[in-house]
Amino acid sequence: GVKKKLLNKSYLVTAGPTFEKIDPVRFIGNYSSGKMGYAIAEELAEQGAEVTLVSGPVSVSTQKAGVTVVPVESAEEMYKASVEHFKSVDGAIMCAAVADFTPAKKETEKTKRGKENWQIELQPTKDIAAELGKLKTNKQLLVGFALETNNELANAEGKLLKKNLDFIVLNSLKDKGAGFGVDTNKITIIEKGNKQTDFELKDKAEVAKDIVAKIIELNN
Ligand code: C5P
Repeated sequence: GVKKKLLNKSYLVTAGPTFEKIDPVRFIGNYSSGKMGYAIAEELAEQGAEVTLVSGPVSVSTQKAGVTVVPVESAEEMYKASVEHFKSVDGAIMCAAVADFTPAKKETEKTKRGKENWQIELQPTKDIAAELGKLKTNKQLLVGFALETNNELANAEGKLLKKNLDFIVLNSLKDKGAGFGVDTNKITIIEKGNKQTDFELKDKAEVAKDIVAKIIELNN
């Protein structure tokens, strides 16, 4: 067989959306299937790594040996689980579509239907990737994702620097077959120093191999 390239390595992967409670029956969330994050977690494990997969609510699952799923619901829960596990890993891949805002007040009872408008005040959540970027040691690798609709490259490069990432995976919603829900993705990897690599449209399992190959190249 092929030699495993990440034996004795460990990674944290975040995946899926977060759900932010409005009241006991409603939430604000992002469109995210979790497929890309789960594929990356499985490919890291395939290469021999121990993976902690901090996952928001998704319908995908994994039975892969070496992957431990830590289920969370909200951005705050994902933040706490990520910070806790980051200390002991060689790197983190931030694949989750974290809600940027959460209701300032969670109602304890269901809000009843009515004729008036309903104003929900939202407050910003923590940027988990940026927080890990501050905690990162020079032995740890931090990988982010950018899903952009316009000024893709400039926005992605901005995030790379702001969040102290080693590389960022850009997928554009302009590309057919890329982004959420679908089984395929088309990515560009941007590294520090403006090094940019474009990949073809492919299955998310194959995209995960390209991303993990870059992790192997940079972390070993
Ligand atoms: O700023 P933006 O949300 O576009 O950045 C995307 C990257 O940051 C992704 O890697 C995403 O997982 C991560 N992120 C995060 N916590 C947030 C928002 C984004 O970890 N609250």
